[in-house]
Amino acid sequence: MTTDEIRQAYLNFFSKEGHAVIPGASLIPENDPTVLFTTAGMHPLVPYLLGETHPAGKRLCDVQKCIRTQDIDEVGDASHLTFFEMLGNWSLGDYFKQGAITMSFTFLTDVLQIPVSMLAVTCFAGDEDAPKDEESAQIWENIGIPPERIGFLPKTKNWWGPAGQTGPCGPDTEMFIWAGNGEPKGNPATHDSEWMEIWNDVFMQYNKKADGAFAPLKQRNVDTGMGLERAAKVLQGVKSVYETDAFRPIMETISNLLHLPENKMKFSEVGSEEERRKVEEQFQKHPRIICDHLRAATFMIVDGVRPSNVDQGYVLRRLIRRAIRSAWRISKESEHLFTTPIIESIVTSYKKTYPSLHEQEKLICSVVTQEEEQFKKTLAEGLKQFNKSATDHIDGLTAFHLYDTYGFPLELTMELAKERGKMVDVDGYKKAFAEHQALSRAGAEAKFKGGLQDHSNETTKLHTATHLLDAALRKVLGDHVFQKGSNITAERLRFDFSHPDKMTPEQVKEVERLVNESIAADLPVTYHVTDVEGAKKEGAIGVFDARYGAEVKVYTVGAKKGIVSKEICGGPHVARTGMLGAFKILKEESSSAGIRRIKAILNGGTKEIEVAKEER
Ligand code: ALA
Repeated sequence: MTTDEIRQAYLNFFSKEGHAVIPGASLIPENDPTVLFTTAGMHPLVPYLLGETHPAGKRLCDVQKCIRTQDIDEVGDASHLTFFEMLGNWSLGDYFKQGAITMSFTFLTDVLQIPVSMLAVTCFAGDEDAPKDEESAQIWENIGIPPERIGFLPKTKNWWGPAGQTGPCGPDTEMFIWAGNGEPKGNPATHDSEWMEIWNDVFMQYNKKADGAFAPLKQRNVDTGMGLERAAKVLQGVKSVYETDAFRPIMETISNLLHLPENKMKFSEVGSEEERRKVEEQFQKHPRIICDHLRAATFMIVDGVRPSNVDQGYVLRRLIRRAIRSAWRISKESEHLFTTPIIESIVTSYKKTYPSLHEQEKLICSVVTQEEEQFKKTLAEGLKQFNKSATDHIDGLTAFHLYDTYGFPLELTMELAKERGKMVDVDGYKKAFAEHQALSRAGAEAKFKGGLQDHSNETTKLHTATHLLDAALRKVLGDHVFQKGSNITAERLRFDFSHPDKMTPEQVKEVERLVNESIAADLPVTYHVTDVEGAKKEGAIGVFDARYGAEVKVYTVGAKKGIVSKEICGGPHVARTGMLGAFKILKEESSSAGIRRIKAILNGGTKEIEVAKEER
């Protein structure tokens, strides 16, 4: 079965079983500033799992785009991905264990025709929060799974959720396919690494509270999730997800473009058996990383993310840069701009299911290429630094500097050093790295002690202040002022804008005064969703360089005649400007030709904030 066929078969099967097929949501969670990406199909459904009525009914199914970056270091193996599609079906207070397990089993064995002999399952072993799930195990046994293929595991394995700190969760039963050599053995509780998880049925009957307690939910729900790419791997009988029908053309493009077979041969010619094995490993891992990361980047960009140094934009930037670094490791061809044909190949694989990829193909390519150009400049600069060091010894601090400033991982520095007959002080590097980590941990610790939530409260407040600043600058300096860049940390905002001259002290004062005036007026902040044309028509400002998706959010500060700012933006923002505190400009300076930069802070303001809501 092809990937497209599996997706369709799933929706058909659950639709016949009375489930409404609902559209998947954006990768960017709506109205949830606590998480960066949608990580599971249940994520957009949390309000309904907690008891709100869903307009489509009590049985739902869909295909949900998901991003999970916590396993990013595993990418390159046979099945870990940062972006994946999750097939899911839900019961909102309708069927429970018997119904969910029966349908899962029927789909796996009848529709996908996976032999029962290749399947194993796990159930929750029980603890002080919830009892051992004998019921699920009994249902599996009755349906035809032999007892030796049923394992019991603790909460670390067989419990799912909540998706954030609090929310719906419960024990789960997971389904596995034999991926080891020879005949299937035991179950995942006894032979963990040889069984590959493919599907998870969660019995959501608890709500985890902020104090850590598990309160019973009003309704008993079922939340399931199957990894589409893994299902395709199993059904197509291939060794990794990269060899399935949707990935193969992308991998071929990467291989041809970067001349991988020739390069691999060249690399393998010299060296010991151990070194040849390493080359083999590198030439398997890096093309996979390029494929996975650019695929995730493509889907992020379509959902409106752009490379930046914060939040989703930072994850996107890291993914693109990691892909470029991987290409660097295995091919000189990567010195030319190489990402566009790969993106085109990704779009071709997925455009039938996700037409917006095709519609925005040019935009995706240009966003990635821009980042590629920028990062390559940094890499080239790093290489210059590297070549400058005249000694035949790269000390630890230099190696760390190459990593920290120019993005050279240690292995890259070591390879470059080897090519030039130099030595690298690996221990010194590790020491510098550990010291740096200790420092950033101390920083994280301090933020944590201040309250995690507080950190994002501060950035949210500064974000709203940035809108007020943008509006005030246009009022004081003129309509030629446009945002050219924005960077927000928990401590300060930094805003770049077009303006030819240094601002006078009076202008700086006036801008500061206007922003503080809006804060003192405690204006409401709301947003509404529209398209780019609609946003332009109502006079919203924004960076109109085709950055946006079909739908955009417009944030408005003030109401009726007293609107002070209207700006296209993803949010989040505070609900009222009165929460911000006192606005102070610390610095006005040149950023580059024709671009000025302001650094500003907020003092005081409320500790707890409320987030701006959609205007209805
Ligand atoms: N929400 C469950 C998961 O992600 C189904 O595995």
